[in-house]
Amino acid sequence: MLLANLVTCSNLHLLIDREELMPTDDITRKVSERYARAAATGEQMCCPTAYDFDDLRSFIPEEVLRISYGCGTPAGLATVLSGETVLDIGSGGGIDCFDAARRVGPTGRVIGIDMTETMLEIARRNALLVSRNLGYAASNMTFHRGMADAMPVEDDSIDLIISNCVINLAPDKRAVFREMYRALKPGGRFTISDIVSDQAVPQYLVHDAQKWGDCLSGALPMWEYFEGMRNVGFLGVHQVASRPWHAIDGIHFLSLTLTGYKLPHSMPRPDVYATLRGPFSDATDELGRTYVRGVPQLIDDRTAQLLGTPSLEPLFILTEQPMTAPPDASPWLSVLPEDRPCVWKGDYAILMTALTQAADDDHHIYQRGVPLEVCSKTLTVLEHAAYRPCFAIYNRASEVVQGTQIDCAPAGGCC
Ligand SMILES: C[S@@+](CC[C@H](N)C(=O)[O-])C[C@H]1O[C@@H](n2cnc3c(N)ncnc32)[C@H](O)[C@@H]1O
Repeated sequence: MLLANLVTCSNLHLLIDREELMPTDDITRKVSERYARAAATGEQMCCPTAYDFDDLRSFIPEEVLRISYGCGTPAGLATVLSGETVLDIGSGGGIDCFDAARRVGPTGRVIGIDMTETMLEIARRNALLVSRNLGYAASNMTFHRGMADAMPVEDDSIDLIISNCVINLAPDKRAVFREMYRALKPGGRFTISDIVSDQAVPQYLVHDAQKWGDCLSGALPMWEYFEGMRNVGFLGVHQVASRPWHAIDGIHFLSLTLTGYKLPHSMPRPDVYATLRGPFSDATDELGRTYVRGVPQLIDDRTAQLLGTPSLEPLFILTEQPMTAPPDASPWLSVLPEDRPCVWKGDYAILMTALTQAADDDHHIYQRGVPLEVCSKTLTVLEHAAYRPCFAIYNRASEVVQGTQIDCAPAGGCC
């Protein structure tokens, strides 16, 4: 990253706006024009969110709330600590920045980045009002013009990155993921909401600027999203929430909120053994190590860090000596399918946790981000509290299905 244009903003170094470097490809220009128009007119667009608007209304002006165009509620904000630095990619009218500004308190900082000047003007104008409403002596927010794939922030400077329904709009998602990794401090994290698809979006939709601006055409298939994050170095990447949103020509779009970590450099530590507790019968982590339930194995420091991240921590037992409990002992957690007929109803399960692959006790193999059709019996198993956080479940049937019962006893194995 070029540091030639360094300027100082309070305790944070920011690179000055690099408008001359901003890409002017056709889709990006049309997306920007679209959001400039929406901001100016207050048009309703985009996707359902889960804000507590009554709460937000107590300190955020209506002008901002009216142009909330997110597709989730960056739940990561609930993890923010006082004094942290938060970066919002594609901050729009500023709704999430303002919420973050309240949570980090007057000693924290919030940086919003957006490519659309009309959005930035609204956010900047309201930042002063929000700071006053929060009782801060000075604003703890700054808003900068910039692209998601070339962000005007210094390396290793951010504690938490948030983003709400923006990355799908960027032409080069991998470059955005690289930028996120660069900007985060070691030990930093992201929580982003975005639209993803259950299969590759065909070219006739990719080249539809209207649908790109609607947060549809630019959606990445889920497995590519996870792989893109892993390829740049993020670990512990898992869903916080997911919700089916829209379907076009059999392509299903989901609103997904994901968290992941730029883990700090690992410190040498005494030997650690990891034992997969369950509910999976075997599983592969993001570093490529495979575990069988109940079988301890010596792991390295990096793996120990990874298995301590929130989505994996409940699935593993870490000990200084190999565990010797028999496989049916209470620490192991298995969820067996019931012995009764199954019905196919169009349900699909997608593994969404920080494992690249995992198997259940009925021999299903789930690949992260890849939809697998499941019968009613398997659905019941995946609804179990131990499995549920690891999966997104959605239905692909566009008409009511008859659902003939099939004998799908565990020994027979039908799916
Ligand atoms: C769907 S709106 C979401 C705005 C805001 N996050 C919210 O929740 O209301 C998308 C925003 O991202 C901005 N945007 C889209 N693509 C971008 C890119 N590649 N780089 C920077 N900003 C981008 C748009 O200008 C717009 O303000």
